[in-house]
Amino acid sequence: MFISPEKKCLANINSSSVLLFSSLFRYKNMLLLASVLVSFSLLAQQQTIAVETKDNALVLQTDKENRLGIIYFGKRLLNSGEYTGITQQYRRDNDNKGIDNNVYTPAGTWNLLEPAIQVTHADGNKSLELLYVSSSVTKTDDNTKLTRVSLKDPVYPFEVTLFFRTWYNENVIEQWSEIKHAEKKAVVMEKYASANLYFTNTKYYLTHFHGGWATEMRPEETELTAGIKTLDTKLGARADLFQPPTFALSFNKPATEDEGAVMLGTLAWSGNYKIDFEKDVYDHLRVIAGINPYASAYTLQPNQTFTTPGFIYTYSGNGKGEASRNLHNWARKYRLLDGEGKRLTLLNNWEATYFDFDENKIVSLFKGAKNLGVDMFLLDDGWFANKYPRNDDGAGLGDWQENKKKLPSGIGYLVKEATKAGVKFGIWVEPEMVNPKSELYERHIDWVLREPQRPEHYYRNQLVLDLSNPEVQNFVYGVLDTLFTKNPELAFIKWDCNAVIFNAHSKYLENNKMPQSQLYVDYVKGLYKVLQRLRAKYPTVPMMLCSGGGGRVDYGALQYFTEFWPSDNTDALERIFIQWNYSYFYPAIATCNHVTDWSKYPLKYRTDVAMMGKLGFDIVVDQLSEKDLQFAQQAVANYKTFSDVVWHGNLYRLMSPYEDDFASLMYVNDTKSKAIVFNYLSNFRYALNASVQPVKLKGLNAKKRYSVTEINLYPGTKSAIKADQTFSGDYLMAVGVNPGVDLRHTSVILEVDEVN
Ligand code: GLA
Repeated sequence: MFISPEKKCLANINSSSVLLFSSLFRYKNMLLLASVLVSFSLLAQQQTIAVETKDNALVLQTDKENRLGIIYFGKRLLNSGEYTGITQQYRRDNDNKGIDNNVYTPAGTWNLLEPAIQVTHADGNKSLELLYVSSSVTKTDDNTKLTRVSLKDPVYPFEVTLFFRTWYNENVIEQWSEIKHAEKKAVVMEKYASANLYFTNTKYYLTHFHGGWATEMRPEETELTAGIKTLDTKLGARADLFQPPTFALSFNKPATEDEGAVMLGTLAWSGNYKIDFEKDVYDHLRVIAGINPYASAYTLQPNQTFTTPGFIYTYSGNGKGEASRNLHNWARKYRLLDGEGKRLTLLNNWEATYFDFDENKIVSLFKGAKNLGVDMFLLDDGWFANKYPRNDDGAGLGDWQENKKKLPSGIGYLVKEATKAGVKFGIWVEPEMVNPKSELYERHIDWVLREPQRPEHYYRNQLVLDLSNPEVQNFVYGVLDTLFTKNPELAFIKWDCNAVIFNAHSKYLENNKMPQSQLYVDYVKGLYKVLQRLRAKYPTVPMMLCSGGGGRVDYGALQYFTEFWPSDNTDALERIFIQWNYSYFYPAIATCNHVTDWSKYPLKYRTDVAMMGKLGFDIVVDQLSEKDLQFAQQAVANYKTFSDVVWHGNLYRLMSPYEDDFASLMYVNDTKSKAIVFNYLSNFRYALNASVQPVKLKGLNAKKRYSVTEINLYPGTKSAIKADQTFSGDYLMAVGVNPGVDLRHTSVILEVDEVN
C-alpha cells in the first residue's frame, strides 16, 4: 500500500476530526454543522491507497470532502508515486461527482446510483455518509497482506471497515466489509454489500452462466449497456441452481484465452447473492457484489459487528487463461480444503443402483471397486430411514438411521467389508433437508422452514431445515458426528442439498422475536457454523460439496470441502462443456467427474473426459465387457501416474468446444517437465475437419525437448502419433502437434515428457 509519508500525520488529524465532528453534532444545530463541514474539508488532505499485487493495482483516493473513491483498477504502475496524479486525466463533471466512484457507496444523502450500503438508523433516519478515517496494512506472510480502510459517518456513530486481502503472486484480492455502530438502539441494514468496484473503461463484456438441473454453467457473453445488469439468486439453499455467483468481465473488447484485459470474480457465499453491473453516465462501470438484499433487511444491535462474505477477484491483462490460473493457484494454496493434497478415486453406486440395493448388493460392488483399482467405494442415497424407508426421493430424509431391511448389519459392517475388500468407504448425506414423510418432520415440525398458514411447497418432495436455529445446527452436526463416531474409518462424505427454500419462514426467529428478514442470511451463517464445528473435530476427512448437481459451488463453502460435484449430467459430451466452464474458476483437483452410463459414448471417451479433474466411476463393473474392464483398469492405473499434473499443474485451454470441432486442454507441472493434453471430439458430424490442423501447446519450456506419447489407448488399438520422436518446447508451442482426433479417435490423451 502507498500512502505518501508527508500526509500520514494529517490522516490522524482527519480521524480525530471525524470523531469530534460526530459528537459535536449531537448537541449543536445545523448552522454549526455547516461550519464544521467547512473546517473539516479544510483539514482533509488527500490520501492515496494502492492495493497492489504482483501485476495489478486497485487505487483508492480521497477527494476534497474526504470521501474515498476508486481512481484506478488495472496494471500496476512501476512508480507507485504516480498513482496520486491519475484523476487529473479524467473529467467527470456533474453535481454527482465524487460519489459515483465511491469505494462503498452509501445511500440516502446525495448518491443517485446503486448503493453498496443502505440503512435505517435507530432514530428512523435513512441517510448515510461515509468518510475516510484511516487505513493500515498488515503482512500475514511474504505473499499475503491485509489492507484495512476505516470509514465513518460524520453524523451518526456508524462505521464501516473495508478489508482487502491480497495474495501477491496469485494476483488475487478478497474484499469484504465489517459494519458496526454505537447508536442507542438497533440499526436496520437494508443493503450491505461486500464490495463496490469502479472501472474507468468505456466498453465492458460480461460472461455469466446460467442453467438448471443437469444444464449447469451455460455461458452467455454480452456487452453491457447503460443501466444495470444484475446477476442474482433468491433461492436460499441450492442457491446457484439457475445462476452461480461467478463471472468474467472483459474490458474494451471480449478477452480471449491469451489476450485482453479481464477480471474473474465470484462471491464466497452459499446463499442469496446479488451482483450489479451499472454502466453510468460516463460509460464507467460500477460493480457492486454481496448478499442479496431481497427480503433480507438485517438488524444490527449496537456494538455488534456484521461481517459480509468475501468477494474474490483477479485481474489479468493477458486473457482468461492467465486469470483462471491465478484463481486456481490461489484456491489450491489458500482456500480449498487440502488443495495441495491428494484425492481419492472412487466407485459410486448412484447411477448403478439408484435406491434399489441391499447389503449384499453393496458388498458385491466393493469387489468391482477393487477390481477397477480405485481407492474408495461411495454409498449414495437410499441407505437410511425405517418408519418411512428411503426407497425413493419421497420419504425418509431426516431419519439418519440405517434402514434395517436394506442394511441389517449397519454401516459399520459395510465399512468393515469394504476394508476387507481393499477399498475405503464413503457415504452420502443430505443433513439440511427433510421429507414431510419422515419421523423428523413428525417430531420437529418447528425445525422446518414453512409458512404455518399456507400450503407447503416441495422441491424434490422435501423441505429445508431451519439452520438459523442452534438446535437444528446441533442436529445437522450430530448427523455427521454420529456417523464418524460410530465408524471412525469412514473415509469420505458426499454432502448433498437438493431443495431450494420455499415459504421462507422460521419458527425459531418467530419464537425469539427476531425478524424473519434475517432468515436467508442466518441460514448460511448457521450452515457455516456447522461446517466450522465439523472441521474443528474432523479437519482432514475429504468431503464433496453437492447440490442436486452444481447447485452450490462457491468459495464460501469450499473452505470446508475438498471437492465439488459439478452436475448430475454425466453425458460425456455435455460434461466437456460443463467442466470447461467450471475450469475458469475452480481447479481440476476440486472438480469431481464420474464415468457413467448416462450416455452411450465409448467407455474410453467417457473415461478420458472424466480424467480432466478428479476421476470416479458410477457403473456396474461386473457388467463391463472383458475389453472395457481391461481398459478401465489400465485407465485408473494411468491416471494414478499423471493425476498429480492434473491436480496441481497449470491449466491451458487450447481449443474451445464452442469454436472448434474438438476441445483441447492441457495441464503442465510447475517445472514444465511433464504435461497431459486432453483432446475430445465435440462435433460428431461427418467429414469434419478436426484432424487437419495441429494443436499448439502452451506453458512448456521453449528450450526443453519433449517426447509426445499417446496414452490411455483402448486395448487392441494403435496410436496415430509416431513414437520415438522428440520436439523442442518451441516447436510444440509454435507448430504444435496433431492429436489425430476424428470420428474413429474421439478422444486422445497425450503425455508430454521432458527428455534429456
Ligand atoms: C442429487 C445428487 C446425485 C445423487 C442424488 C441422490 O441429485 O446430485 O448425485 O446423490 O442426489 O438422491
